[in-house]
Amino acid sequence: MKNQLILTLYILMLAPMLNAVAQVQGINNLDPVTEQKIDSIISLMTVKEKVGQMTQYNGSFDVTGIPSDIDSKTKLERLKNGEVGSMLNVLTAKATREAQEVVMQNSRLKIPLIFGYDVIHGYKTMFPVPLGESASWDLEALKLSAQIAAEETAAAGVHWTFAPMIDVSRDARWGRIMEGAGEDPYLNSVIGVARINGFQGEDLNAVNTIAACAKHFAGYGFAEAGRDYNTVNVGESELQNAILLPFKAASEAGVATFMNSFNEIDGIPATASTHLQRDILKGDWDYKGFMVSDWGSIAELIPHGFAKDKLQAGKLAVVAGSDMDMEGRVYEMALEPLVADNQIDEELLNDAVRRILRVKFALGLFENPYKYSDEKREKEILLSKENLEASRDIARKSIVLLKNEKGILPLKKSLKSIAVIGPLADDKDTPLGNWRAQAVKNSAVSVLEGIKNAVGNKVKINYAKGASLGMGERSFLMPLTINETDTSGFAEAVEAAKKSEVVVLVVGEDAFQSGEGRSQTAIKLRGVQQELIDVVAEVNSNIVLVLMNGRPLDISRPNEQVPAILETWFLGSEAGNAIADVLFGAYNPSGKLPVSFPRNVGQEPLYYNQKNTGRPSSDMVTYSGYQDSSREALFPFGFGLSYSTFEYGNVSLDANTFSGEGLLNVSVAITNTGTVAGKETVQLYIRDLVASRTRPVKELRDFKQIQFEAGETKTVTFKIDSKTLEFYSANAKWEAEPGEFEIMIGTNSVDLQTVKFTYE
Ligand code: NOJ
Repeated sequence: MKNQLILTLYILMLAPMLNAVAQVQGINNLDPVTEQKIDSIISLMTVKEKVGQMTQYNGSFDVTGIPSDIDSKTKLERLKNGEVGSMLNVLTAKATREAQEVVMQNSRLKIPLIFGYDVIHGYKTMFPVPLGESASWDLEALKLSAQIAAEETAAAGVHWTFAPMIDVSRDARWGRIMEGAGEDPYLNSVIGVARINGFQGEDLNAVNTIAACAKHFAGYGFAEAGRDYNTVNVGESELQNAILLPFKAASEAGVATFMNSFNEIDGIPATASTHLQRDILKGDWDYKGFMVSDWGSIAELIPHGFAKDKLQAGKLAVVAGSDMDMEGRVYEMALEPLVADNQIDEELLNDAVRRILRVKFALGLFENPYKYSDEKREKEILLSKENLEASRDIARKSIVLLKNEKGILPLKKSLKSIAVIGPLADDKDTPLGNWRAQAVKNSAVSVLEGIKNAVGNKVKINYAKGASLGMGERSFLMPLTINETDTSGFAEAVEAAKKSEVVVLVVGEDAFQSGEGRSQTAIKLRGVQQELIDVVAEVNSNIVLVLMNGRPLDISRPNEQVPAILETWFLGSEAGNAIADVLFGAYNPSGKLPVSFPRNVGQEPLYYNQKNTGRPSSDMVTYSGYQDSSREALFPFGFGLSYSTFEYGNVSLDANTFSGEGLLNVSVAITNTGTVAGKETVQLYIRDLVASRTRPVKELRDFKQIQFEAGETKTVTFKIDSKTLEFYSANAKWEAEPGEFEIMIGTNSVDLQTVKFTYE
């Protein structure tokens, strides 16, 4: 009774003050008034209710992990009793309202649920898959796409996305390379922050913003041999400098939540890693939001061989700083007895609950738990015309022109005939990619449709599928079957190619070939696609190869066969229109690879920012290379052509020494020597020549996107401060060490000019 009274008072009298939270940007800026409210709620809670806040259940709308065995009746009872604090995969304004009502009308403390969902590249309007979108290097566009995704998600009653994934990934065999920003720590940092800002906006309390989640903490992208969920072995230097850099940036940007990862690092599963979660994240970085486990990862401490049973798994995870148990069903059985037996301090639970409530307050859920569940807004916003237009714009910015010989591109609209060939040429589903949230099946604009939209009846289009790729029913959890034998469509494809001036040949991966659990040992074009290219190339050499894929592919052979290659990833709802924009020159391609494309799978993991090794020189057999292949990428990180050509003048520094005070300026004049306006991404790399821990031969540290008119020259200046030169040193801190540095500037990670200075 007394408790009830306090609670009522707290809700009635203090609720207006909760607005104060709305002004606080980022979860790390604590508002004392809210902190007090949280403490008073915690003081009212039983241990069971605290465990409830730390428990997340799956709904029934989507299944993005191994389905659990709990029946819906039990689930409902637990919701009513306040034994569940969050749900994932409950969607639509109506369903979220209903689930929220169960809690608000029945539970003792009426603490609203927070609903989470994997909104990875759009909710209903699909944007390019994250790796593809990252190829735009356009931070404003990336932010906008996250912002639109947030608006659609929030309108469907969902408060929280499990994105962005900021796992640095260097291995094309790993299917989830598709979900991040590629191989570079800096690019992952700035793109991660752009996405976080897009999702969260300036005010998490607004009805069109949602909480973001930096995942997977940490090292998931370093799985040995690119095999999903596999073991990771890295030392502290690599952990801090390569893996954690983007997460540090996400924490500084005030991302509302983190998710830990399935993998172990150096013998400790990340979910039970005190070093990662308590020492680094919540200690060194002073992070104030909460850590959700990955799906079942607390229970997986048992097969990892780290915990003997659920009780021990729960103890290890909570001590290590995992605040919420996603579908692991461990905390709900383990934490109460652990507290009762004095095996863990209840303060651990208080800390976790405090962090979770902080996010719920920031979202404004205590003010109005139903504010996001608005069916009218849901109807208006989802898949709106404006959202589709924005999707088309970022899609075309994400396309990378890898090759353009004989001036074949852009295609002239005066052409009389174009053959559009390939298993993906009229595929309206594959461009939606994996992790497609609520995208409607077969709803993307296909390349064939995009080309027809662009040329109308003026050009004769000869379409032939040639072959099929992914076969049968395809979905997130279903194994994929690829057509490895059927070549019956080849004859028709050859005929189409013969009677056309130009061939647009669309090949690549099926939508469900990359993504979670989609690791591969081979990264060539699968099925009969290479044979299809062979037969078409025999009868028509004017081929524009359009690739759709979620990982770097080994395209060494097609690269020798065709004059033009467009990398289009999985571009989302407007894919075909965006591709046609580039094919016909309505948009001048500006994308740059966020990941190296190898010559063969044996080079993987391949990344540009490697160490020099003790034997870098290739003039002897005994050097760090391969006997049967170059060690360089086929298409390097940062590479991408344009219909313009950019000429770089000499790079100049305004001083040869730098004390760390103020700024060092480095400039270069660049001219668009082409005949059309275009955009160049000017890249700046550094090398710390001698350091207390060896540094990579080059590291991206800044870039600028500059628009040029035809013939225009502009001087581009980068400002370098001591932060640009920092790394996690042998002194176990982020610092710039005195000594010689190289600055490299250019159009990709290979074509660079170098200048030197001394940092004193
Ligand atoms: C497992 C994935 O690893 C994670 O990224 C995702 O957010 C959860 N499942 C929820 O679907």
